[in-house]
Amino acid sequence: MLSVARFHLLWLAPAVVLGALEVDLDSEDSIKAAAKEVAYDLMKYYHGNESGQIPGVLPGPPPAGDYYWWQGGALWGTMMDYWHYTGDETYNDVTFEAMQFQVGENKDYEPTNWTLSLGNDDQSFWGMSAMLGAEINFRDPPEGKPGWLYLAQAVWNTQAAPDRHDDTCGGGLRWQIFPGNNGYDYKNTIANGCFFNMGARLARYTHNDTYAQWAIKTWDWIMDMHYIDDKWNVYDGGHIPANCTDINKQQYSYNAAVLLLGAAYMYDYSNQSKEWEDRVNGLLDGMERVFFINGTLYEPSCEGGICKADMLSYKGYVHRWLAAATQVAPFCKDRVLKLLRSSAEAAVKQCTGGDNGRQCGFHWTTRVYDGQTGAGQQMDVLGALCSLLTANAKAPVTNSTGGTSVGDPNAGSRTTSLPENAEITTGDRAGAGILTAFILATTIGGAVWMGWD
Ligand SMILES: *[C@@H]1O[C@H](CO)[C@@H](O)[C@H](O)[C@H]1NC(C)=O
Ligand SMILES: *[C@@H]1O[C@H](CO)[C@@H](O)[C@H](O)[C@H]1NC(C)=O
Ligand SMILES: *[C@@H]1O[C@H](CO)[C@@H](O)[C@H](O)[C@H]1NC(C)=O
Ligand SMILES: *[C@@H]1O[C@H](CO)[C@@H](O)[C@H](O)[C@H]1NC(C)=O
Ligand SMILES: *[C@@H]1O[C@H](CO)[C@@H](O)[C@H](O)[C@H]1NC(C)=O
Repeated sequence: MLSVARFHLLWLAPAVVLGALEVDLDSEDSIKAAAKEVAYDLMKYYHGNESGQIPGVLPGPPPAGDYYWWQGGALWGTMMDYWHYTGDETYNDVTFEAMQFQVGENKDYEPTNWTLSLGNDDQSFWGMSAMLGAEINFRDPPEGKPGWLYLAQAVWNTQAAPDRHDDTCGGGLRWQIFPGNNGYDYKNTIANGCFFNMGARLARYTHNDTYAQWAIKTWDWIMDMHYIDDKWNVYDGGHIPANCTDINKQQYSYNAAVLLLGAAYMYDYSNQSKEWEDRVNGLLDGMERVFFINGTLYEPSCEGGICKADMLSYKGYVHRWLAAATQVAPFCKDRVLKLLRSSAEAAVKQCTGGDNGRQCGFHWTTRVYDGQTGAGQQMDVLGALCSLLTANAKAPVTNSTGGTSVGDPNAGSRTTSLPENAEITTGDRAGAGILTAFILATTIGGAVWMGWD
């Protein structure tokens, strides 16, 4: 009797996870259907399009909610990729509104509201999503609004400016933009990796070699600092008082991935140079060794250490950026897509959580839901599913292969102004001016206070 009952329990066990995310990885339709569910559950975390809420941002920053401003930028890149790979336009309006709403007063993704916590990497996450918009021909804004290329150039120009690139540690970008912020004395891989990534992509898109020269300079600096070692471990950064030699040896998957995608673009831009091919392969070797267990993506710092909310979305970037790399550096296609497929398979297996029984956790290698859902976890699995759809997806365009985004090489320089939208009324502008003055006053007050602290 007992054994029969047990048998029945086991037999029935799958019914408990009936709502679980189901996907046949051999079928593009099935992958798209699963991605649609994951995207739906992800967008439930977004309230920026509801009355009284701020467009573009996820609830936060802590303690008001779990998410920082940069994760909004990351979310919209994820949703643009979702549209690009699946053709589902459901979230395009909300994505478009968000990307335009957060451009900031100078149209360079430095909105005054978020100044106090703004790092170069935070700004870049929006900048890289804008770059993606140009590369996949995401809906162009109407005249008078900044184009995706313009915005990417604006972010890049602010970061290439001398006030961001000082001579300490022989060059490179600091993590933080503003002297009052914690981390202003830290020159790290993510800030420089994002700048390198955008430079490589801008070079390819515009055919302007200045961007590539900066990308090479940034890569060389990162190597000179030994932030990447001879085994292709990618470390986090170093502090200016130690001339950046006190290397923090934590390894985060997004550091390696942002560099890998940039290197893949440089490979394409340099007409398939062996040098960049070797760098892509080297970074891949390191990533496979450090961040994959039996073909499943694993975040050692988080899953084997102390996990911060930021880390919970890294896996999505790894999947999306590695997938994009195969489009510009096809030599790595077989190797990368095999890895992404086995990883996505494990990722989906653990999506049995939340109210509807199909939301995802973060511990993919266990294949068992870990009890915690979030926008980061959903972005990760959405990125993983989308990364399996690259084979039939259009490669990123350039301004000579169908790219329509309008740019300006001087975007973001503080003297540039966009053609004003004639429809703005005097009343709107006065209102905006008062608001800006108020925010400026409170920001300056806040900065002074932080300085004393
Ligand atoms: C906000 O966007 C979602 C799509 O993500 C949509 O379902 C919802 O109706 C929108 N809400 C408002 C108030 O427009
Ligand atoms: C800045 O904050 C104000 C006040 O909360 C809000 O009304 C405005 O929409 C915010 N702007 C941005 C770009 O976040
Ligand atoms: C600091 O590091 C840079 C870059 O490696 C080097 O050129 C410079 O000589 C170093 N300065 C000191 C004081 O060690
Ligand atoms: C692409 O952009 C460059 C500027 O970087 C410009 O010289 C060139 O004419 C553009 N090409 C097309 C087809 O628009
Ligand atoms: C190329 O980019 C640099 C750096 O932004 C800019 O100064 C220069 O004007 C650009 N050249 C062209 C032809 O667009």
